[in-house]
Amino acid sequence: METRIDEIAAGIYRLSTFVPQVAPPHGFTFNQFLVLADQPLLFHCGHRRMFPQISSALTRVLPPERLRHLSFGHVEADECGAMNEWLGVAPDLEIVHGATAIQVSLLDMADRPPRMLADGEVLDLGGKRVRYLDTPHVPHGWEAGLLFEETTGTLLCGDLFTHTGNGPPVTSSDIVGPAIVAEDGFGFSCLSPGTAPAIRRLAELAPRTLAVMHGSSFSGDGGAALRELADDYDRRIRAALG
Ligand SMILES: [Fe+2]
Ligand SMILES: [Fe+2]
Repeated sequence: METRIDEIAAGIYRLSTFVPQVAPPHGFTFNQFLVLADQPLLFHCGHRRMFPQISSALTRVLPPERLRHLSFGHVEADECGAMNEWLGVAPDLEIVHGATAIQVSLLDMADRPPRMLADGEVLDLGGKRVRYLDTPHVPHGWEAGLLFEETTGTLLCGDLFTHTGNGPPVTSSDIVGPAIVAEDGFGFSCLSPGTAPAIRRLAELAPRTLAVMHGSSFSGDGGAALRELADDYDRRIRAALG
């Protein structure tokens, strides 16, 4: 396993580790995203056991001790397994997340007190600006939340658009079709009446880049891709209700 690092938008870097044993025969990527700014932010910590190679890959762009903010979609091993390892190497690093994640899990799990962001609150990183958005249960996890980097129009969209394989770091090809195939296979999303409306709310941001945690990132009309994905979740709910 090797972790590569590629710039997918101006100052937004994707760290990617391809694991062929996960979701065979195509394999699966686990991606983290660095928002390079005066106060650099990392979105997703990666698995605890992958920390040595992910932090080593980051050094090609930024010394890990310079990280200032750490966030992730929700509480799972690939999203936040290594949070305390990152806190251990970066003395000024602070976890930022929404109220639910912090009150339910992070006050206990994190080695340093996290900082709470309100839904819609903007964090100025100096040269980059991230807006925090509560997305409860989308695609899973009560505490789920995402970040939108406003200067590049990049939605750090976590597990949304998950797809298998080791595609290019960024693509302009369709990512909704592969995401539908992955949902068919894994059933990883929570289907609720709020699922599609929450995704359509993200579409209103009109992102130009979708930074996908598992699979290739997408460059293009992110709003259209999100609306198409929302329509598919509506279809699934209607089918489930008969
Ligand atoms: Fe997840
Ligand atoms: Fe994930």
